[in-house]
Amino acid sequence: MQLSSKEKHRLKSKYGDWAIVTGATSGIGLELTRQLAGAGFNLIINSRHLEKLKSVENELKEKHRIEIIIVDADVSEATGIDKIVKLYFH
Ligand SMILES: NC(=O)c1ccc[n+]([C@@H]2O[C@H](COP(=O)([O-])OP(=O)(O)OC[C@H]3O[C@@H](n4cnc5c(N)ncnc54)[C@H](OP(=O)(O)O)[C@@H]3O)[C@@H](O)[C@H]2O)c1
Repeated sequence: MQLSSKEKHRLKSKYGDWAIVTGATSGIGLELTRQLAGAGFNLIINSRHLEKLKSVENELKEKHRIEIIIVDADVSEATGIDKIVKLYFH
């Protein structure tokens, strides 16, 4: 799957330059991460395991000139959500 130019423009106009993807290291979240990086979004990517996040970050940096922030946090816990929110609004 690939986002059309029209869809990339629509997303950027509506949501701005940054996107947060939870579950970004595997499956649906990883595909979404790759598509958004390809569309030029800066990304905050999340999952629970830092090493997997670093691996995804390295892959994206090789292909795209975007800013990437990785955050290892469990989003099933309030403290995990807080970690992402604090980072976003810092
Ligand atoms: N695949 C499908 O066809 C399908 C269809 C409908 C709905 N869904 C739903 O969509 C979601 C994703 O499915 P998927 O197949 O893409 O799953 P997946 O391949 O298992 O990917 C899950 C991702 O979420 C992360 N993750 C899991 N628990 C987490 C937590 N508590 N906090 C933060 N990150 C967490 C995993 O990384 P870590 O383990 O490192 O945290 C991984 O990056 C699931 O809820 C699934 O039920 C999937």
